[in-house]
Amino acid sequence: MHVHLRPRLARAADMLGPCAVIADIGSDHGRLAVALLQQGRAERVIAGDISAASLEKARSLATLCGVEDRVDLRVADGLAALAPGEAEAILLAGMGGLLMARILSEGEAVARTAKRIVLQPQGNAAELRTFLYESGYAIEEEAIIFDNGRYYQLIRAVNGQPHPLPRGWPEGYLELGPVAYEDRDPLLLPLAQKYRAGHQKRLRRAQRDGYAPALLLRALAALDTIIALLEE
Ligand SMILES: C[S@@+](CC[C@H](N)C(=O)[O-])C[C@H]1O[C@@H](n2cnc3c(N)ncnc32)[C@H](O)[C@@H]1O
Repeated sequence: MHVHLRPRLARAADMLGPCAVIADIGSDHGRLAVALLQQGRAERVIAGDISAASLEKARSLATLCGVEDRVDLRVADGLAALAPGEAEAILLAGMGGLLMARILSEGEAVARTAKRIVLQPQGNAAELRTFLYESGYAIEEEAIIFDNGRYYQLIRAVNGQPHPLPRGWPEGYLELGPVAYEDRDPLLLPLAQKYRAGHQKRLRRAQRDGYAPALLLRALAALDTIIALLEE
């Protein structure tokens, strides 16, 4: 059986690059782990998950696809599944950004030695980027993917000096990616407009109740700035 990846995970596979050993942490169904082997992007994949039941799904899929001898299944919390330097590239996909920051922080020795860390946060992208900038990770690539009616942000980071924010970028605003902006990702404008519409709706609701939350106003101002920069 051949595993077809939807655009979100297909882009994650591209960003992981060809490597001898790739770790898919929070692997769950194992689709990405198996596809990486089928596509010749890795010689061996370590599939980690905190849930043994999740990894049973990955085991079944790997067996069905005849790659079980090259998928190493490990039940563990985050990067505790790995020894430092064991995996050249690490993926964390489909978890919240705060959980990802916690996993990278607790598994620092492993994270710092990976050549590529690919992150696809399900929410809290700002908190995750803040962690990366403050902890000394350089964001090398970002992508926005529209898949099945939803936008997803992907980040490729590596241990190193964080790149300076682009000129004009609103200070402290990291819900959207400065690197996606520098690369003029075509989906950045529609995603910024979607966020702005959502915030405007929230602000109208708050104003009806007689207040205007400062955080919301700051986010709206940041989005206005980014949209103006993109429309220049
Ligand atoms: C929504 S699934 C994402 C599956 C796949 N990565 C994807 O993007 O389609 C999240 C998975 O992360 C696992 N998970 C949650 N917390 C974890 C942790 N601390 N360490 C490892 N895996 C974790 C869950 O058990 C679950 O299987």
